[in-house]
Amino acid sequence: MKFRTVKGTRDFYPTDMAIRNWIVDTWKRVSLNHGFEEYDSPIFEYLDLFKAKSGEAIVSELFHFTDRGDRELAIRPEMTPSLARMINARAQSLPLPIKWFSVPRLCRAERPQRGRLREFFQWNIDIVGIDDAVTDAECIFVAVDFFRQIGLTPADIVMKINSRALLAALLSARGFAENRHADIFVVLDKRDKLSQDDFIKSVEKITQSGSRRGKEKTTLIEIGQAHGKTGLESLAGMAEGNKSAERELTRLRNVFDILNTLGVADYCEFDMGIVRGLAYYTGVVFEAFGKAGLKRAICGGGRYDQLLEVLGGPPMSGTGFGTSDVVILDLLIELNHVPTEATISKQNDFYVIDADANLFNEVLSLVAKLRKAGFAAEFSYRRQAIGKQIKQAAANNTRWAVIVGNEYTERGVLSVKDLDTGEQVEIPIRTFLDNPHAPMGK
Ligand code: HAM
Repeated sequence: MKFRTVKGTRDFYPTDMAIRNWIVDTWKRVSLNHGFEEYDSPIFEYLDLFKAKSGEAIVSELFHFTDRGDRELAIRPEMTPSLARMINARAQSLPLPIKWFSVPRLCRAERPQRGRLREFFQWNIDIVGIDDAVTDAECIFVAVDFFRQIGLTPADIVMKINSRALLAALLSARGFAENRHADIFVVLDKRDKLSQDDFIKSVEKITQSGSRRGKEKTTLIEIGQAHGKTGLESLAGMAEGNKSAERELTRLRNVFDILNTLGVADYCEFDMGIVRGLAYYTGVVFEAFGKAGLKRAICGGGRYDQLLEVLGGPPMSGTGFGTSDVVILDLLIELNHVPTEATISKQNDFYVIDADANLFNEVLSLVAKLRKAGFAAEFSYRRQAIGKQIKQAAANNTRWAVIVGNEYTERGVLSVKDLDTGEQVEIPIRTFLDNPHAPMGK
């Protein structure tokens, strides 16, 4: 019987692992550079945590089970509820604002497709405890900075930004009762996944029958299609005279101004079609997309004003985003931007070689000394010609080959070959061991 991985999950062979580590290391470096601290939580939680956040519907979207104590548990499908639970547990003592990041392994019971698997690693960035446009902008800035660090330009990627609060205020100003907003959000969120005709049909389905129908349809299409600089300007007319719509529009403009000052405006674009599926977002929301083929969002986030309170904590606003290794890698493959193994895998320091099988014990003791001193040192398990061992050293991505020949026992010297330049020198063993990281004397 042959065993395979479960669909939607992946094995990571060392070459895959090198790429995953490169992505994760870049996430961590960018997070630390922007002042975020790392946290983590258990991979499974009480199912109720996710139900409290999203209702019963979430149950079919995650992996859940009952343990031997009859507790209903679930593997975390996202990090935000666990983050809220952790902050709520120490809300009185944590200094604000909280700037935290994490790289959890998540599972979702999804139908596997391009950019979406059932198990993935998700980078989360969150700022909690301060409700200000500068924190909305900072989260977007961090995401864009990561894209920049992995070599993506505004020609490759766009960060689409909207405000649910502005959308809600405009809808209210135009006479759409609040209890209709959720249905309208769903239709606008699907805008780009539908043809123009189908989008209009979906809009028609959520308009009221009777005299207001035509007007509602025109308004929803006008609001729903607004994007770019002109789209934002066109909404100014609609917001005029309505205090909350004007306030939310000013805030969204402020986010764009800050992004401009931070030098990433060319990655960013206003788009009313970004509403985000998750129910907890209340303010500025954003999603990044590749400009070529991959149609799935590669990053998504936004402001959540009530989540902590809904989960039993104090009223505290937060904002953040998530992006995963799966989508990042798919995008890099599509753009032919995957880094080569040589650029991302760590170079080993030494490969110790015997010129004669009798010297193998010297090889082992030299390797042991180098490893004890903290160097990555390797050797061949087979006694074979120097040339073959040097080939192995090169295949092993090693910087220096250390050759132990008869002169090792006779004169106390060994040879070191720089495998990058081909340069080879003979040096006394003591001198080498005193300063192994500069075997060429440089
Ligand atoms: P989300 O939109 O569900 O948001 O996911 C964010 C990102 O995670 C997506 O844009 C995508 O890159 C990645 N992702 C989601 N599902 C999958 C999957 N099945 N396979 C691979 N990648 C996936 C959230 O999860 C929010 N909790 C993010 C957040 C953090 N909001 C505030 N803070």
